Amino acid sequence: MASVSVREGGPRLKSPLEFPDSPLSRAARQPLMLGVFLNLQDNQLSTYPTSNTWTFDYNLNIVQKAEALGFDLVFSKAQWLPKGGYDGDASLDAFVALGAMAAATKSILLVSTLHVLYGPLHPLHIAKFGATLDHIAKGRWGINVVTGHRPIGHEMFGRQLIEHDKRYEMAGELFDVTHSLWGEDENLTYEGKLNSWKLGNAWVTPKPLYGRPILVNATGSTAGIDFAAKYSDLIFVTSPGGAHIESALETLPEHTKTIRAAAAAIGREIKIVINPVIISRDTQEEAEAYARAIVDGKETNEAQAKHVEAHKASYQSDAHAWRGRLDSRHKQGLGLGGNVEIIGTPAQVVEQLKALNEVGIDGVQISFYDFEVDLEHFGTKILPLLIEAGLRI
Ligand SMILES: Cc1cc2nc3c(=O)[nH]c(=O)nc-3n(C[C@H](O)[C@H](O)[C@H](O)COP(=O)(O)O)c2cc1C
Repeated sequence: MASVSVREGGPRLKSPLEFPDSPLSRAARQPLMLGVFLNLQDNQLSTYPTSNTWTFDYNLNIVQKAEALGFDLVFSKAQWLPKGGYDGDASLDAFVALGAMAAATKSILLVSTLHVLYGPLHPLHIAKFGATLDHIAKGRWGINVVTGHRPIGHEMFGRQLIEHDKRYEMAGELFDVTHSLWGEDENLTYEGKLNSWKLGNAWVTPKPLYGRPILVNATGSTAGIDFAAKYSDLIFVTSPGGAHIESALETLPEHTKTIRAAAAAIGREIKIVINPVIISRDTQEEAEAYARAIVDGKETNEAQAKHVEAHKASYQSDAHAWRGRLDSRHKQGLGLGGNVEIIGTPAQVVEQLKALNEVGIDGVQISFYDFEVDLEHFGTKILPLLIEAGLRI
């Protein structure tokens, strides 16, 4: 179902999946889409050595390597935290960094996380910046719509946390209007009903190449799934159980069915992606030793823990997506930094990816403990087996 302009009698706007030749449609034809979940932040999970850094050059190199291996997409998270809140020193902005990567890549999709209610951002900004990046990337760029699930980010922008479902309603109005700007053949005048912005004779050209940039949202709640069904091309999910692969495989079938039904109910199709961390070596012993070494090196960042404790109420999340991790009925993972943990030999990794695909997962956004080393291992040892297994064309 295409969306319709908020202007009475205004045009309909198609989504990139409705264009068979769009970069997103091309990626979506893979039995299992492959993505990298970039690390644009210092992330000090363990003292076990890793080459990972937040820098642009490091991450661009990873993206270019992933592209050369035929990966379909890269994705990066975004957080707004005060001094002391980050794991480490620095974090690059995802919108700007992945936007810049558009000019240094050719085929890979680039999805930037954007906090759309902070500011607040005006729909004209999203529509104009988005159309510009869409043309630079030739239809390969998109937004992961996030609305801020902790008070801390809202407070940095001088505001208070907005109620959970209301955030999705406000983001809905924002994208109704942004979609209108992308699709309109006339100027648009509109006054926000749930948002404080207004538009008078607003106009955006160029129009995006395939209707609009790619839209994604990451969620586990009913309101978030309804938002995804209506606006998103990809929904980024977590394991509704724990991060342990067995728990994920038990709980995902019902979850993916619910999501597809929500989209189908309004005549739309949505692709479901998840974020596994892959810890793999040639033998099972080596892979397990690698996982153990990471766990053994885990340490509390004392300064950060103190900062969070001092601002406890502001760090309290109202997200539904990770609630399964608090449920003792589910098998939990080792805390290796992914929403699902895949540990094993290349053949065991492929088995687990196949199992995820069979419970309704269309794509994986992979985290690696050491992107440089582990992406190389993935490319030489795991990818050929994925092709053999029919998961990659
Ligand atoms: C896989 C995943 C990735 C996410 N990445 C981000 C992020 O980069 N920045 C952020 O502020 N929130 C992020 N979120 C939080 C969501 O945007 C959302 O606020 C949260 O899941 C609460 O919504 P829910 O209750 O609908 O799940 C992420 C959520 C999930 C499930």
